[in-house]
Amino acid sequence: MRLRPEPSGTALAQEWDRLLRTALRRGSLPEELEPTIDVAGLDPRAVDAARRGWLRRMVDEHRSATVFSGLLPQLIEAELPVDVQAVALRMAMDELRHGTLCGAVARALGVDPVMDIADASEGPARHPDLTPLPRLLRNVIYASCVSETVSVALTAAEREEVDAPFVRAVLDQLFGDETLHARFGWICLAEAAPRLTAAEREAVEVYVPVAIAHYERSIDARIGAPDHELEPTERRDRARLGVLDPALAREILYDTTRDVIVPRLRDAGLRV
Ligand SMILES: [Fe+2]
Ligand SMILES: [Fe+2]
Repeated sequence: MRLRPEPSGTALAQEWDRLLRTALRRGSLPEELEPTIDVAGLDPRAVDAARRGWLRRMVDEHRSATVFSGLLPQLIEAELPVDVQAVALRMAMDELRHGTLCGAVARALGVDPVMDIADASEGPARHPDLTPLPRLLRNVIYASCVSETVSVALTAAEREEVDAPFVRAVLDQLFGDETLHARFGWICLAEAAPRLTAAEREAVEVYVPVAIAHYERSIDARIGAPDHELEPTERRDRARLGVLDPALAREILYDTTRDVIVPRLRDAGLRV
């Protein structure tokens, strides 16, 4: 299928815009800035890496929407409160918007924000052999506690070095939302973990190392390895466009899982 996360131009686009300005508003909107990025004088290899990076991010952000919206039936089934259910849907809407914003950055860098992808509608894992609560918590740990906590750390690093104003505005928006998306997981876990039976708790605990290893592998592959040693100007210009040096991104990934995520899972009472 083809992914092009841009609004339709129908009356529904006006409704979406109203939603952005009211329910989803988080500080100033990147849409209010001129969506242009001045790449004159920047290292062309860095511009190229930024185009690929923002297109890939567009797909990843959009895909997160299917995961969070797919959590709704599992949240209902596991009897989580209605506010938790509603925030999961808000997060799905945030991710749709993130896909659009990342596409806007790609467009401002001179590429059409469109990607052909194979599996855009993959929702959260079903873990059919489990009862509702451990099934939900496995997915919350993977999609929120692990993924979104790493996202917050990576986006914080990107914000420190970016200097193109439109890219900065997009990263500010992503950062604010990803912070909520990570808190969602930790709050959900604290709320629901005490209800686990001993056997259910064990079913969650045995999954944690699998989830972390799977996530690290997928992000490691996404960070990729450049086919050449990055030169200082290239590294600097990538950072200006919001794309981290792969070595730094990898360091943040592994430091965050080891030093933040695992201790917090232990604080939540899991033996991991
Ligand atoms: Fe996102
Ligand atoms: Fe997110």
